[in-house]
Amino acid sequence: MKKSSAITAVHGRQVWDSRGRPTVEAEVRLASGHVGRGMAPAGASKGRHEALELRDGGSAFGGLGVTQAVANVDGAIAAALRGADGLDRDAVDRLLIAADGTPNKVRLGANACIAVSMAVAHAAAAHEGVALHALLAGERVCVIPLPEIQIFGGGAHAGRRIDIQDLMVVCPGAASFAEALAWTAEIYGAAGEIMGERGQLAGVADEGGFWPAFESNEAALATLTQAIEKAGYRPVEQVGIALDIAASEFGRDGRYKLALEGRTLDRQDLVTLLMDWVGRFPILSLEDPLGEDDGEGFALLMAQCGTSLQIVGDDLLVSDSARVREAAVLGLANTVLLKPNQRGTLLEVRQAWETAQAAGMSGIVSARSGETEDVTIAHLAVGWGVPQLKVGSFSRSERMAKWNEVLRIAEALGPDVAFAGAGALKQG
Ligand code: PGA
Ligand code: ZN
Repeated sequence: MKKSSAITAVHGRQVWDSRGRPTVEAEVRLASGHVGRGMAPAGASKGRHEALELRDGGSAFGGLGVTQAVANVDGAIAAALRGADGLDRDAVDRLLIAADGTPNKVRLGANACIAVSMAVAHAAAAHEGVALHALLAGERVCVIPLPEIQIFGGGAHAGRRIDIQDLMVVCPGAASFAEALAWTAEIYGAAGEIMGERGQLAGVADEGGFWPAFESNEAALATLTQAIEKAGYRPVEQVGIALDIAASEFGRDGRYKLALEGRTLDRQDLVTLLMDWVGRFPILSLEDPLGEDDGEGFALLMAQCGTSLQIVGDDLLVSDSARVREAAVLGLANTVLLKPNQRGTLLEVRQAWETAQAAGMSGIVSARSGETEDVTIAHLAVGWGVPQLKVGSFSRSERMAKWNEVLRIAEALGPDVAFAGAGALKQG
C-alpha cells in the first residue's frame, strides 16, 4: 500500500532575511508528527515575469512587510492543505497553485507559497527518514553541482557602482566540489588583497562579493582575471569567469545605458561589446546578457557563440516552463537559471528544469540576493541533477550555509559520487 501522512498544520511566521528585511517562514506538520520548515528568499533585480512577491506596502519597512503573506499561510493556504497527503508533494503543490488560482501567485504571494512548498518537502523527507536531496532524487543518480561563486558584486546589489551585476568564478579544472571551493577561497582572498593594496577595499555588496570600487566594467574584469592568476590558477583551463550582466536593469527595447561609461548602446553594440570581453577575458558563461524582453538580442548572441559559451536566462526565463520552451524553440539561451521563488512552488520550477533538459538545455539552481539560512536549494541542485549551483559569494553565512551543506551532502553520498565539473559548461 502507498504510504501517506496527512498535513495536520500549516503555520506562517515573519522572520528576517540577510538584508534585514521581513520574509516568510512556513512550518508544516504531518500526522506522523514530522515537521518541515521553509523560508522565502527575495530578489533585488527581479524579472518582470516573475511570480509576485506579496508585500504589505505602506510606510513600515519601506513597504516590504509580509503581514498579509504570513496571514495567507495561516489562512487560505492552511485551509487548502489541511488533510492532504504531505508525502505526495506534487499534489500538494497543485493544491497551492489552485488555492492561488492566478498564473503569477498574485492572490496568495509567491513568497508565501514557496515557503510552504519547501516546508512540505522537508516534512516529507523527515517522515521518510532521508535527506531532502535523496527524497528528490528517488531512483535518479545524484550529481554534485559545479559551484558558480561571486567575487565582486555590482549592479543593483552595489548601488549600481558598476553595470555588471555579478562577477563570478567557475572552476572547470577542479576535481571535486570541495576542491572548487578551496580554489575559490584562494581567489576570493587574492581579490581582497589586490583591492587592499590599491586602497579600493570598501566592504562587500549584497551577496558578499567585494564592493566594486572600479572605474570601468573592464577594470573589474581585469582585476578578477588578475586575482585568478595571483591565486595560482590557469585562466579558462582551471578557472573561468561567469558574468551575470543583468541587462534588464539598464536596458529596455533593445537600448542599453551603461551608466559607468556614460554611453547608450543598441543591442548589436552590446553584443559586440560582450563578444569583445569574451575574446579578451577568460569568460565561460554570460547570464542575462541582454534585457528580459530583448529576444532579438539573445538570438543574435546565441547565433554567434551559443555552441561555445554558456548563455543563461534568468530574468528572461524566470524559471517558467513555457518561457523555457519558447526560448529553446527560438534559440535564445542554452541554460536556465532556476530560482524557486520566481514561480512559488517546487513543482513548477522542477517542470521548468525538465522542459530545459528535454530541449537539450542545461540548468543552474540559484539563490537570491536576499537570502536566509535556509539551505533547501543545495538539496534541489543535487536531488534534481542540476549541474550548477549559484549562491552568491564566498562570505556571509547565508551564502556559506549553502556551500557547506553541499559539502555535507557530497560526503554523505560517498567518494564515488559524480561531480558535474567541467562537463557542466559544455554546450550541445
Ligand atoms: P536577485 O539577483 O536575487 O537580486 O534577482 C540574483 C540574480 O540575478 O541572479
Ligand atoms: Zn541573474
